[in-house]
Amino acid sequence: MGKTSTSRSWTEGDLSVPDGVSAGGEGLLDRASPATFTKRMQIFIDTADIEEIRDAAAMGVIDGVTTNPSLVAKTGRPFKEVLVDICEVVDGPISAEVLATDYDGILKEARALAAMHENIVVKVPLIAEGLKAVRTLAGEGIRVNVTLCFSPTQGLLAAKAGATYVSPFVGRVDDISGNGMEIVQQLVTIYQNYGLETQVLAASIRHPLHVVQASLIGAHVATIPHKVIHQLLKHPLTDIGLERFLADAKKIPNG
Ligand code: G3P
Repeated sequence: MGKTSTSRSWTEGDLSVPDGVSAGGEGLLDRASPATFTKRMQIFIDTADIEEIRDAAAMGVIDGVTTNPSLVAKTGRPFKEVLVDICEVVDGPISAEVLATDYDGILKEARALAAMHENIVVKVPLIAEGLKAVRTLAGEGIRVNVTLCFSPTQGLLAAKAGATYVSPFVGRVDDISGNGMEIVQQLVTIYQNYGLETQVLAASIRHPLHVVQASLIGAHVATIPHKVIHQLLKHPLTDIGLERFLADAKKIPNG
């Protein structure tokens, strides 16, 4: 788009409501109410870049954010500053990861992170000390996203410990010739079998097909990089169709 400077816009005359016609619209929201649906797939954005988060949030397509130390390092900004900015832009779960790997250290960092904002979900690695901390934190009502999950047995234990989310890393398993999405499927089934409330958060998503597969499986959440979110919405026929509509619109006389 934007190839020509003589694009057509609707004028006020084109858009005013004709006399005797009601603007209407009543009842539309009732029919489309989200309350109609029992299960809602959530999309989180997997980034610490505030501009990427603003862009996705403005489209209304994200429910939360996940970060990790590598993503924060890429911003070149202090951790706390990044988190404060994210909390201002998104009103939903925001995962922030601890660096400690011992029980006491994890608890200390987790409590401090949770105290920063009610939307902060603490990310804890899937190690024995991590699970001990998850148990304690869950008892305190602090939500935990257990990260670095690579097997269904790890995910089962994380759920037993009281995790709110478990993050199987799909792409990293694919990277070593495994089937990362199979772990998502197994965890969804295991949690459903026993009514475990832990949510499967498909992470390390690398391309649109991962998102399609995660949603067909029924993963509760997919955390998606900014680039992949844009890949999800892009279609060449949309671009061609839009170009044609705009070209034809120039032939319409002003109202
Ligand atoms: O946030 C964790 C995860 O999504 C990492 O993705 O691409 O570094 O494997 P990736």
